[in-house]
Amino acid sequence: MSINNIEEVASYIVSEGKGILAADESNPTCGKRFDSIGVESTEDNRRDYREMLFRSAGMEGNIGGVILFDETIRQKAKDGTLLVDIINNQGALPGIKVDKGLQSIGDSEETVTVGLDGLDERLKEYAAMGAKFTKWRAVIKIGDGMPTDQCIDSNMKALADYAKLVQDNGMVPIVEPEVLMDGSHSIEDCYDATDRSLKSLFAHLEANSVNIRATLLKPNMVLSGSTSTTQANIQEVAQRTLDCLKANVPSELPGITFLSGGQSDIDATAHLDAMNKIGGFPWKLSFSYGRALQAPALKAWGGKPENAFISQDALSHRAKMNKFASLGEWDDGMEED
Ligand code: 13P
Repeated sequence: MSINNIEEVASYIVSEGKGILAADESNPTCGKRFDSIGVESTEDNRRDYREMLFRSAGMEGNIGGVILFDETIRQKAKDGTLLVDIINNQGALPGIKVDKGLQSIGDSEETVTVGLDGLDERLKEYAAMGAKFTKWRAVIKIGDGMPTDQCIDSNMKALADYAKLVQDNGMVPIVEPEVLMDGSHSIEDCYDATDRSLKSLFAHLEANSVNIRATLLKPNMVLSGSTSTTQANIQEVAQRTLDCLKANVPSELPGITFLSGGQSDIDATAHLDAMNKIGGFPWKLSFSYGRALQAPALKAWGGKPENAFISQDALSHRAKMNKFASLGEWDDGMEED
């Protein structure tokens, strides 16, 4: 592949239906995922699991980028190959999560994502290690009086400051304003919180002169709250998500890569496919899934090396299904193949 600048990096990642494998779980989050299959979260186990994923046959042609955690970008496979090189050999670009997590805003339930201190030095180091793109996740909660304007504004300003610094260091920023699906709120409440967040985000990106053509957006879909008694169906989720994106996202943005956020793997695929079947938007609409790509592979692995092949098959299958969804060519009958 010949990729000469950051605009081409952003376009490559979402080209031809490709999407992103989010494998950037922090060690505590990885610990929670491993707890669910009874595996201890050691440095070697995390390496073995991720090496196995990155070597899956279905990475090639379906996955354009992999988001890594600081530990992983430095790790070598058992045979001494850098994991970053395994990813490159699959035709995917390595990326890195660079935020430092969430800090409470005063004594409220809301948070602001931190990590701007020392970011310039860290970016230089990651670029030298071969990272081509980065990720920063802001978290917005829906609840009584939430989200507040202060929470939205401080998070979106930090995202824009991060994005500018990343481009100055020759990498593509993924900006991730995640409105959580936790709660009993309605789909209208989710639309409203997502709309306010995206408006603020693109105003801050513009104020910082961030190059939108070299940026990827990683948003939530517009969904009913996970414990709401009324659950919007696939078509409604697809239509409301598209309405919200069309109202806020500039047409020069090359790609929107959704997070899965706790949706089942099939729901995440079905929603993405429904949006691409509706069509009529200027961006590539693709995926940057963590749980929705990894969950079946994690379960099939169970920490046992002898399960590597069935686990890799499970990841390959979800990667392929989501590629079809990014092209609007998926149907649920393909899940049985
Ligand atoms: P999920 O798809 O599991 O939400 O993870 C994506 C991600 O990278 C969250 O920051």
